[in-house]
Amino acid sequence: MEILPLHLGVKNLVDSGLHKVPDIYIQSKEGRPNAVHREESFPVLDLGAALNSSKARAALVSQIREACVNWGFFQVINHGVPHSLVDEMQSVAREFHALPNEEKMRYFSTDIESRMSWRDFLRHSCLPLSEIQNLWPDKPGSYRKVTANYSTRVRNLAKFILELISESLDLPKDYIDKAFNGCSQVMALNFYPACPEPDLVLGIAPHSDPGSITLLLQDHVEGLQVMHGNEWYSVKPIPYSFVVNLGDQIQILSNDKYKSPEHRAVVNSSEDRMSIPVAMGPSWESLVLPASELVEGSPVFKPMVYRDYMAAMQAGGLHRKWVLDALRI
Ligand code: OGA
Ligand code: NI
Repeated sequence: MEILPLHLGVKNLVDSGLHKVPDIYIQSKEGRPNAVHREESFPVLDLGAALNSSKARAALVSQIREACVNWGFFQVINHGVPHSLVDEMQSVAREFHALPNEEKMRYFSTDIESRMSWRDFLRHSCLPLSEIQNLWPDKPGSYRKVTANYSTRVRNLAKFILELISESLDLPKDYIDKAFNGCSQVMALNFYPACPEPDLVLGIAPHSDPGSITLLLQDHVEGLQVMHGNEWYSVKPIPYSFVVNLGDQIQILSNDKYKSPEHRAVVNSSEDRMSIPVAMGPSWESLVLPASELVEGSPVFKPMVYRDYMAAMQAGGLHRKWVLDALRI
């Protein structure tokens, strides 16, 4: 796997003293950030007790089921990933985005579509670790070491959450792992510079994540919004938590019982924002289809190899849930 592109440009623009947003970033009227709810009852799950007690685990499975049915999104706390490691990951990500352009140009992409977003990002695979880490940025100097450690800890957490999700569907706990032949793992460092006209742009357009689950680390700046009952809700940052959202492959496997939620990010005029999503997925060659245990009558989705799904998504861009909708029978 190669290093995937860094879309450079927005920070560069802002640093050069821009006061108006260039036309290419301006969203159509319907696409602009509009009214948003600030929901206090957004699900927050405490994983602490369930790591050691089977009774607590059963309770957590039912909380996860409820969160998956109602939102497809939840935050986890007491997840076991050390706070010091989270701090280190956030520092190296910030340092990376602060590198001079000549250094970041090594990862530059000319992809046009993403220029519409008020976001710079570096994205790369995390597996197989021993091979891929030699392709990761070598600056900042601690990038490879911190990211190897961080991606491993977050992968283990993701495996635990996927077991709970399997159980919440009344499937054996290793069902998803087996159906997806293990996993793929891709992470991104998203950087959203403060914007002189934040109401005209989006940090990232509405989309659902293609994989199994994403574990997103956000800093203290609000910006992530999730669609719930056709309205946008802002996900208030909780320090050291992860935001977990279901991806399209879980919607397919669950035969539409669970939905991958649409989400987007907005920006603001006063502060930069950074987020680090770790996107888990089936292994690239897995054929993903609805679990026969969950199909009554006929399946809702056609099967598709995950690698092809991702290729379609990358070719067609982030736009609502168009790849998933194309698989509906
Ligand atoms: C993503 C994403 C949201 C955010 O990278 O897929 O949805 O808050 N990011 O950065
Ligand atoms: Ni996303």
